[in-house]
Amino acid sequence: MLEQIASNGLLRHLITLEGLDRSLVEQLLARSRYYLADRSARAPRDAALRGFTVANLFFEASTRTRASFELAAKRLDAEVLNLDVNTSSRIKGESILDTIYTLQAMHIDIFVVRDASTGVPQTIAEAVQPNVCVLNAGESDTSHPTQGLLDLLTIQLHKGDVANLCVAIIGDIRHSRVARSASQALSLFGVGELRFVGPPEFLPDDQEFPAAVRHTEIDAGISGADVVMALRIQKERFASASAIPDAEEYFRRFGLTRARLAHAQPDAIVMHPGPMNRGTEIDSDVADGARSVIREQVANGVAVRMAVLAHVAEYIRAWRSMNS
Ligand code: CP
Repeated sequence: MLEQIASNGLLRHLITLEGLDRSLVEQLLARSRYYLADRSARAPRDAALRGFTVANLFFEASTRTRASFELAAKRLDAEVLNLDVNTSSRIKGESILDTIYTLQAMHIDIFVVRDASTGVPQTIAEAVQPNVCVLNAGESDTSHPTQGLLDLLTIQLHKGDVANLCVAIIGDIRHSRVARSASQALSLFGVGELRFVGPPEFLPDDQEFPAAVRHTEIDAGISGADVVMALRIQKERFASASAIPDAEEYFRRFGLTRARLAHAQPDAIVMHPGPMNRGTEIDSDVADGARSVIREQVANGVAVRMAVLAHVAEYIRAWRSMNS
């Protein structure tokens, strides 16, 4: 297993939340809060990444994560390279590691990587020079650590200590890296009750998150929840198109509507990592309603990515001072 923490105790890579110390996650969240913008004010900036170059390599589609990593790096004064994968030499057959070695020769300090295959961020992290860091920006159905952090931060900002909360995650959990990373973050902080809600074929195996309570009926799954997180159906991860449920039928059975939300706590918050499919997993009434924190999740995502970038920059600075 790759060591995400360097021998000097500093965070070098962020590939997964699994196995991280709670104290490190607390530091990342504290720094994220520092970077959170007052909504009426200009976005916070500092020079934590001055003199560093960040490369965003998104080999799978993204709006939120890609834009927020780019903004986060720029607001920390980094130089930013956004590789256009569709016009890169990967389509001429260059391997991903040859692409990495090529960019590394141009003095990239931090690679931000999204890929549809499990293991790619770790493979890159194992191959880069010791002064280079790798951040996972979404890996197949396996891991999306900065999303897990921003989800935890959003919940804490609204609800405080997660130990007192019931969190219900609804939808296609089996194919969701968001659900996995959120569940890891919530478990690390001792969530009161974690529920997985969806049709049986969308629920993860019992061995995965054994403490989570499984529900196949949405009303019971939402009942009394403090936090309700809806997920889209990850169509791109199904082995066959015929296994993808019909959108209207799915909405009838598992769509998050105002009537269904009435089963949750009266002050429950509604989350969705995006992209949303309105009318499939969530009704517009709920997505745009008073209890929705979906756009706050997006705002918090920039702060979390600034915090993670600033943290790994400390590792690079320490490496440079040891090796200069
Ligand atoms: N939540 C999330 O990862 O969104 P994007 O796919 O738009 O980055």
